[in-house]
Amino acid sequence: MLVLGIETSCDETSAALVADGKVILSSIIATQMEMLKKYGGVVPEIAARRHAEMIGYVIHEAITSAGKTLKDIEAIAVTSRQGLVGCLLVGVAAAKTLSYVLKVPLVGLHHIEGHIFASLLSNPQIPMPHLCLTVSGGHTMLLHVRDYCRYELLGSTLDDAAGEAFDKIAKFLDIGFPGGPVIDRLAKEGNRKAFNFPRPLLRAQNLDFSFSGLKTFVINAFKDKISAGEKLPLEDIAASFQEAIVDVLVTKTLRATEEQGLTAISVTGGVSANRRLREVFQEAGKRHNLEVFFPQLSLCTDNAAMIAAAGYAHLQRGDIADLNLNVIPNAPLELETCQSE
Ligand code: KG4
Ligand code: ZN
Repeated sequence: MLVLGIETSCDETSAALVADGKVILSSIIATQMEMLKKYGGVVPEIAARRHAEMIGYVIHEAITSAGKTLKDIEAIAVTSRQGLVGCLLVGVAAAKTLSYVLKVPLVGLHHIEGHIFASLLSNPQIPMPHLCLTVSGGHTMLLHVRDYCRYELLGSTLDDAAGEAFDKIAKFLDIGFPGGPVIDRLAKEGNRKAFNFPRPLLRAQNLDFSFSGLKTFVINAFKDKISAGEKLPLEDIAASFQEAIVDVLVTKTLRATEEQGLTAISVTGGVSANRRLREVFQEAGKRHNLEVFFPQLSLCTDNAAMIAAAGYAHLQRGDIADLNLNVIPNAPLELETCQSE
């Protein structure tokens, strides 16, 4: 089944064609870099307008670059839950229109579920059940993935998401946006032991995360120096800050995996592109005899191929939306009750 995926929940206008939830025939992503550079972040109104300008082109490119035509599309999958309301509306309006005109089924997806499928799309061998750490700009979640489309929440962030912490510290240090890739690059040249930054909730009994205290600690440690115009050891700050986040993410994920009796870990979302996070997870996987999987780099950040893959899995289960499909900006991921509770 050929599924057209559409993703417009934040600042990437994306469309992709995926066959049978497995083979990516095309994946087109229009990023809004000029806006990010100019304003140092996402401006919802501007992002939504840009989606409206780009969506037709991006869908056309996804279809033609795969050597297909509109008639070949057998279903439409679109991100309808979680994201910026104006942005989501552009994707959902396009998806509903195409579904109506082409007379093909429509399915609305939760953005986070897309990230879970990004890893499955890259690594079809990931066993069920497995542990999934979803780390993006909006989320830090530990999920027990019981099966396709069946999730239990084990822990999540109580305040900032890991990617948000990267972005805010990069903004504070005035080194660019989004912060994750910039800090990742700088950290490579720095000493990760230069500063002993706090590891929030590392030893707490629960599987929740908290990154806002770490962010405040870093800001308080350097704000006077910045005001005084002092040159900061940016590489060392980046490496030490990244190490604190990686340490917490890996330690708690390993604990969750062990507690749940699982043997495989999938790490997804924008932050899963982080080189140090991948390195530490791989080492830990070897030490603990666990399989560790990541999406290919092009599928770590937001893209429509992951939405098409998630859409295919739901269509197999008969989850079909009608033309009343609406957007829900703050919808939580649909979960099963945690059996360990
Ligand atoms: O998944 P995503 O594209 O969007 C959301 O759903 O939020 O993730 C974007 C986040 C940003 O916070 C960005 O700084 C972070 O992913 N990110 C990274 C890296 N690449 C992207 N964080 C750390 N290291 C990276 N290499
Ligand atoms: Zn995302």
